[in-house]
Amino acid sequence: MCGIVGYVGPRQAAPLLLEGLHRLEYRGYDSAGIAVQRNGKIELRKKAGRVSELERLVKSRAVSGSLGIGHTRWATHGGVTDDNSHPHVGGNGEVVLVHNGVIENYAALRSHLTTKGYVFRSATDTEAVAHLVADCLDELTRLGEDPSSDATCVKAVTTALPNLKGTYGLAIVFRDCPGLLVAVRNGSPLVIGVGEDEHFVASDASPLVGHTDQVVYLADHEMAILRADEFTLIHRDSGVMTPDVRVLEHVPGEADLNGFPHYMLKEIYEQPQTIENALRGRIDEDEATAKFGGLNISTQDLRRIDRIVLTACGTSWHAALVGEYLLEEFARIPTEVEYASELRYRNPPMSDRTMVFAITQSGETADTLAAMRECKRKGQPTLAICNTVGSTIAREADGGIYLHAGQEIGVASTKAFTSQVTVLTLLALYLGRMRHLSEPAGRRLIGYLKEMPRIVERTLQCHDRVREVAEKYHEANNVLYMGRLYNFPVALEGALKLKEISYIHAEGYPAAEMKHGPIALVDPNTPSVFITPHCHIYPKVMSNIEEVKARGGPVIAIACEGDEKIASIADDVIYVPDVEEYLQPIVTAIPLQLFSYHCALLRGCNVDRPRNLAKSVTVE
Ligand code: AGP
Ligand code: GLU
Repeated sequence: MCGIVGYVGPRQAAPLLLEGLHRLEYRGYDSAGIAVQRNGKIELRKKAGRVSELERLVKSRAVSGSLGIGHTRWATHGGVTDDNSHPHVGGNGEVVLVHNGVIENYAALRSHLTTKGYVFRSATDTEAVAHLVADCLDELTRLGEDPSSDATCVKAVTTALPNLKGTYGLAIVFRDCPGLLVAVRNGSPLVIGVGEDEHFVASDASPLVGHTDQVVYLADHEMAILRADEFTLIHRDSGVMTPDVRVLEHVPGEADLNGFPHYMLKEIYEQPQTIENALRGRIDEDEATAKFGGLNISTQDLRRIDRIVLTACGTSWHAALVGEYLLEEFARIPTEVEYASELRYRNPPMSDRTMVFAITQSGETADTLAAMRECKRKGQPTLAICNTVGSTIAREADGGIYLHAGQEIGVASTKAFTSQVTVLTLLALYLGRMRHLSEPAGRRLIGYLKEMPRIVERTLQCHDRVREVAEKYHEANNVLYMGRLYNFPVALEGALKLKEISYIHAEGYPAAEMKHGPIALVDPNTPSVFITPHCHIYPKVMSNIEEVKARGGPVIAIACEGDEKIASIADDVIYVPDVEEYLQPIVTAIPLQLFSYHCALLRGCNVDRPRNLAKSVTVE
């Protein structure tokens, strides 16, 4: 989590840093700060709270200078306070840095540096890095090296780094070395923007938009040594390297609200388009199958695959569960879904016929990245289903499929989920058609899939009804979500959406599991949301609803248009279009996204920036 931005060039740094922090705020938003270097001094402004509060502080106490670094924090070590906000100062102010990641051995470093006389002003792990670099710099200075030379400062950093355990993206400035900005990464993303006589560093490319489209993504153990007109790239092991400069693709207006009050609502409404984008160019009508450009794996090898592992976190993990059902149904390939945070530390048996897919919106989730690397280390073909072009996971995977859903800014993931499910459906079709799936069955599936953008458009018409239902139930303290088969992962997803943005405790369950425990929670104040469109076990879900009603629990049903029976049992019904069972998650997720959105609004919560969360979880 957290967003880093840095600038060196002819322009004033502070406004660029603040603009960059605003764009990065989705990554972390509990505190923010900047440091600007000028005339042998580095001035800091930092504060707990949003970037807008930092902006007010900078307005009242301006900072001037054309080299600076900034940070928006998602605290891992140390509470949310002004002192714990970044940037952090090392030694007597000779080093100032911002950090994204976690330093696992910070306690040992802290006690070692305290013994040496360094005074800690914060409770963060990061401050240990600042003092460590300062200590290395002081030592070099004592040995006669010049602290105002780039070489000495860089050497101080390279001497400090091997002592760090954990993950970091760091941007560092030096009081006595004007115009030098050093950025280095191990495990946390950093991108360099190459402009005309100016350079940027940032956690992702968003702060660069409008300033430069020339970017270099840093890999682990790479360090960028930046001046306004110089860029040297060094790898820890291979030394100086030629930067691989890429052109940034950006869709203008992606980060605009386009008249919507919140990004989450805008992104919910983008779904007809994003599903269309996920399908575009990927349907092979002649062969009644799907086609993908970037799998980088031969048809022969794909045919050999006898097991699939899908790994992900959060909403992407829910999409993976839908994927498991799809892949097993259409491709008949045994599929397992693994929490990335578990997989990275487990050692499940995998053969060279097992294919691993990492599913991720951001492409930067630390656990998913680590799980993917672990699988790669063991020789598994590892592909990514990812939204963010150029992200670490997209770059490190052997191949993959992009969602093309556009930037998702709302912390609650919405359009990424339906795009992931769409892509997984295409994948199931593709692998299925290489095996047992018949041509007519493939053709039928394609026909239904092509209808989805239009159907999702129609699904959004349930919005007013969802708002009414939210008005009735938003004061609940607990909500249960029940679904079966393809709608079980949707129940989990609906519960997650409600928890994360409206802070209502919610649990998702396969409806029939309810009687093994959760039914004890049912009472007149605990609504149960049943996702119950037509399916081959519809009567059984109806029985589950009856069981809740019999215990006085209110029932909200998500049902198919035309289902009149449900209206006589459920307290409230939200109707959605009727589609094939395996495509229902794309439809049924939508009223649940809208329900959590309205509950959050009615409870006065910040929809796009829920407490304690960040969009991109780049720490373990
Ligand atoms: C979803 O609403 C969450 N904010 C979160 O669970 C998210 O899906 C998870 O952190 C995974 O992110 P990724 O898809 O970017 O890897
Ligand atoms: N570990 C650091 C802190 O708690 C950085 C966290 C982040 O990446 O935002 O301040």
